[in-house]
Amino acid sequence: MRLDLRATCTTDRSRHAQLTSKGVTDVKKVYVTRQLPQSALDRLDGKVEWDVNPEDRVLEREELLEAAKDVDGLLCLLTDRIDAELFDAAPKLKIVANYAVGYNNIDVEEATKRGILVTNTPGVLRETTADLTWALLLAIARRVVEGDRLMRAGKYRGWAPMLLLGSDVYGKTLGIVGMGNIGQAVARRAIGFDMKVLYTDMYQLPPLAEELINAEKVELDELLERSDYVSLHVPLMDETHHLIGERELKLIGPNGYLINASRGPVIDEAALVEALRNETIAGAALDVYEDEPEMKPGLAELDNVVLLPHLGSASRETRTKMAELAVANILNYFDPNAEPPTPVNPEVLED
Ligand code: GLV
Ligand code: GLV
Repeated sequence: MRLDLRATCTTDRSRHAQLTSKGVTDVKKVYVTRQLPQSALDRLDGKVEWDVNPEDRVLEREELLEAAKDVDGLLCLLTDRIDAELFDAAPKLKIVANYAVGYNNIDVEEATKRGILVTNTPGVLRETTADLTWALLLAIARRVVEGDRLMRAGKYRGWAPMLLLGSDVYGKTLGIVGMGNIGQAVARRAIGFDMKVLYTDMYQLPPLAEELINAEKVELDELLERSDYVSLHVPLMDETHHLIGERELKLIGPNGYLINASRGPVIDEAALVEALRNETIAGAALDVYEDEPEMKPGLAELDNVVLLPHLGSASRETRTKMAELAVANILNYFDPNAEPPTPVNPEVLED
């Protein structure tokens, strides 16, 4: 039986009635592809007619196409593929608000061609994702997860000089691939660990900023060779797909660690499994995977890797702020006196 994704929203008709009784004739319809912090969704009340996926799971493709078919706005997740097929199925669609800073799940070029605005949630998740990056870095360097596993297995026999020796963080070199907002937030935290920071980016930071965080812009190969910890903060695009493959892993070398809280396909994950297995790099700590939620065979069997289920922005505070920002993008789009705060393709608004 196909699930009727609208059936459970009993207040739907009354919301519509409320709006039309206020004299609002052109009521916009919005669909939210997954339950989000309620306080943010409540802001849609009285402004648009809206529904939310009642199931706590990603919509099947057919369900997504069906849900989008007569809506003006879509609030979607990085797990929803938004492309020409979906736009064809949703002829009224005017705005897609992605609940993420990364928007590689959306064909923005196609949206722009059709005059559909795409928005994301930059800024609000920067510090939270930087915190998580450091949790990964410290966890792999000091073998936090292996230690936890040992304790739970009842294998701790008392303090021992050679038990689970890790690698220092303080005073080491941190390589940041992609010095955008999140990369910079990660680098700022390195000041407290007295680290040297190397970075790659299209842009060079102002001299004062470089000085403050002890940072030097270099080419990728040099960064990989010189860094003790390499952390990825680039968006996923054609140019960054498999940016880190077999060759790059060799440059990181047997004493280097790789951290990824950006997007999985930035790393050739099969090559990473090989490098970890052969210990041609020291370790890796991952929040994202090439084919989420799958992992490449062998990854989960290795001890020199820390694995998290895409938790970069997963704090209660930040997930609420992301929902509020996505909702603001939608409401402002339909309000002639307001501007969506964080458009990805603002050229759509200019016509
Ligand atoms: C999360 O991965 C995001 O892009 O916001
Ligand atoms: C991420 O790029 C952000 O803007 O926080």
